[in-house]
Amino acid sequence: MKIHHVAYAVADIESARKKFEFLGYEVEQPVMQDTDRNIKIEFMKHTQNGLRIELVEPDGEPNPVSGYLEKNNGMSAPYHICYETEDLEKAIGECRQNGFLPLQKPAPAMAIHGCRVAFLFSKDGGMIELVEI
Ligand code: NI
Repeated sequence: MKIHHVAYAVADIESARKKFEFLGYEVEQPVMQDTDRNIKIEFMKHTQNGLRIELVEPDGEPNPVSGYLEKNNGMSAPYHICYETEDLEKAIGECRQNGFLPLQKPAPAMAIHGCRVAFLFSKDGGMIELVEI
């Protein structure tokens, strides 16, 4: 599956952005609020190899990143890789067959133009996101 983005949990997008700019990323989609998930999201893209990263900052409770940030003493850290699919239900089925369990029902993601996403995890494979493009 093609990688759509690597997501970083960050305590502060404004200061994280400076570090990633230094590392060769530029803003692809400026910060926006996802009021469904109580987070702020900014997408950046690496100018040399095109890798897209998603900076995710807590913006109210509950949210999917506060606990992870606390475990890391507030240090920015990658927490999922998102893969593209043309058929979300089919991809979820294939992931299930390979030991990834869905965390909740597929839902639209405001920051990805309302595309449907699903999060799944496995002990060995970690957390992944699927986005229907
Ligand atoms: Ni993501």
